[in-house]
Amino acid sequence: MKTVLIGLGGASSSGKTITAKALCDILSPFKCSLVHLDDFYLSDDSIPIDKKYGIQNWDCVEAIDFPRFKQYLRRIKDSGEVEKIDSLESDAGTKLHPNELQKFRDYVASYEDRFNDYHLVLVDGFMLYHDREILDLFDVKLFFYASFQTLKTRRESREGYQTVDGFWQDPPGYFENIVWPSYVTTHSYLFEGNNIEANLTSSAREQLHILPIRSDSLTLYQLVELSLKEILTKL
Ligand SMILES: Nc1ncnc2c1ncn2[C@@H]1O[C@H](COP(=O)(O)OP(=O)(O)OP(=O)(O)O)[C@@H](O)[C@H]1O
Ligand SMILES: [Mg+2]
Repeated sequence: MKTVLIGLGGASSSGKTITAKALCDILSPFKCSLVHLDDFYLSDDSIPIDKKYGIQNWDCVEAIDFPRFKQYLRRIKDSGEVEKIDSLESDAGTKLHPNELQKFRDYVASYEDRFNDYHLVLVDGFMLYHDREILDLFDVKLFFYASFQTLKTRRESREGYQTVDGFWQDPPGYFENIVWPSYVTTHSYLFEGNNIEANLTSSAREQLHILPIRSDSLTLYQLVELSLKEILTKL
């Protein structure tokens, strides 16, 4: 059985986790695992303080234990096994409508012969493509993003995040002061003219094989459909 590492990377509130959970449910008849980068956050008192705003920056590279994360992914690739870790993510199931779930289950069942040969490892994280060493570990690279306004609206309507030691709620202005600038700093190199609102460069698409998924006006059904099609091209 071959192991396939599938990255669901990109901006905060772009739809990575809801898509990953839906895919996991759809693919449950096959060997499929789900890994969340959020489970590799440092302890709360080790999260860097933003110099300008004097608040914790949960959206920067330094907030994550990347050496441990890289090692974890490499072990998956080498052994084909996913070491179990206690996850901070809620285990709430998919938000797909039962009819939609059934439709996708029928769809993947029609490719049973192909899925049977693979262990699919879905990796959900806001910082997977900023570093070439991590990016190269993935066999499928889905890049979720959306406009500033869409991401801000979605992020601000969230309750907050379970952390290693507690619960984090964004203070007012957090999206525009911290989340968005951190995303721009780490991801603009993938966009034409380093402009985060432009299209992905041809080298990001054709050489790095990143599939852009702009989620502003897509439904969960469409996010899953695009992701599944891309995964199938690699099996
Ligand atoms: N395409 C979409 N249409 C409408 N709402 C969406 C869409 N994608 C995500 N959302 C909503 O935005 C919120 C965040 O989605 P999700 O948890 O998948 O984000 P994420 O990309 O995992 O972000 P983070 O990196 O912060 O964990 C959820 O409430 C979700 O329902
Ligand atoms: Mg998430």
